[in-house]
Amino acid sequence: MFWKKDPSVTWERKNINNIDFSHLNVAIIGGTGGIGRAISRELAQRDAKVTVVGQTFRDEDLKDKIKFVKADLSLASECKRISHSDEIPYEELTHLIFTTGIFASRQKQITSEGLEKDMAVSYLSRYIIFHDVANRLGINRMKKDDLPKVFVAGFPGNGQMGDPDDLNSDGKNYSAYATHMNTVAANESLVLDAKYRFTNIDTFGLNPGLIKTNIRSNLLGSDSYLSRITEWIISWTCQSAETYAKMICTLIVSPAIESRSGTMFSNKGDAILPTPGLTKDVVGKFMKNSELLVEKALQSQSPSTSSNE
Ligand SMILES: NC(=O)c1ccc[n+]([C@@H]2O[C@H](COP(=O)([O-])OP(=O)(O)OC[C@H]3O[C@@H](n4cnc5c(N)ncnc54)[C@H](OP(=O)(O)O)[C@@H]3O)[C@@H](O)[C@H]2O)c1
Repeated sequence: MFWKKDPSVTWERKNINNIDFSHLNVAIIGGTGGIGRAISRELAQRDAKVTVVGQTFRDEDLKDKIKFVKADLSLASECKRISHSDEIPYEELTHLIFTTGIFASRQKQITSEGLEKDMAVSYLSRYIIFHDVANRLGINRMKKDDLPKVFVAGFPGNGQMGDPDDLNSDGKNYSAYATHMNTVAANESLVLDAKYRFTNIDTFGLNPGLIKTNIRSNLLGSDSYLSRITEWIISWTCQSAETYAKMICTLIVSPAIESRSGTMFSNKGDAILPTPGLTKDVVGKFMKNSELLVEKALQSQSPSTSSNE
């Protein structure tokens, strides 16, 4: 990992058992699997209100504590439905966490709305929901002594610049790696932009490093030999999703991060510096081109453009 620590932000690592989470109202978009699921389970078992959005609910044992909302977030139209859904209590939320993700496959995958699938799931879903709900996020939350907080998981601070002019991987030479790294740069840009765009909330980037989950199955093949050996090596050399989740749960309630919007955090929870090349201009280009691409995807499904006339 190539990130550099940001010494201007430090926080006290409290024992999780000494923290009261009962006033938290958290939605985790992508909370049905991997890291999001581990965070959701940890918070729910500690009496926080938790809503998760994803495709498959796997936490029947906690179904009384975790509310599940089903959605296919590869579709911009579904993301719009979710951002306007009464099932997610956006106005009451204290925390909104984005952990949706896949890794681009070897062959380019295109959704029915014409979007490259990794960009759609791992970044545009967050862009749409975040921008749609930001102005009403937490306005009716119980305790108003701190700002509502948004956490965007990705791979920030690693020097990935992406290509904001080719968000949909329409360029000639498709590469799964370049496509995924474009989602990485776009997510980091989402955080850097939100710092100034949404002053009513604090927004942070999360870089979990390598953790054994399902994230690579779209690239390596689910349950393939390569996938199993890769995840086995990761499970032996890196922390588990559960260990990471415990640390993240203590971070998200730390008073030290209040008003430190725009900060990124490493797999160990250290504040890290953003990617140097993601300047205001580059970030602005990511945001502008995201808006255009989402508009195009939504129009592709509208009745006027789907007819053959
Ligand atoms: N694990 C790592 O090594 C690693 C490394 C660096 C960064 N990250 C970042 O950490 C975040 C979480 O990744 P993870 O490792 O936890 O991945 P994961 O285990 O694959 O979980 C991804 C989540 O996204 C949801 N999702 C995927 N496609 C979806 C769709 N079409 N519609 C709705 N939900 C969908 C999954 O829900 P369903 O299972 O219900 O479909 C699941 O809840 C991602 O941003 C990833 O880039 C992870």
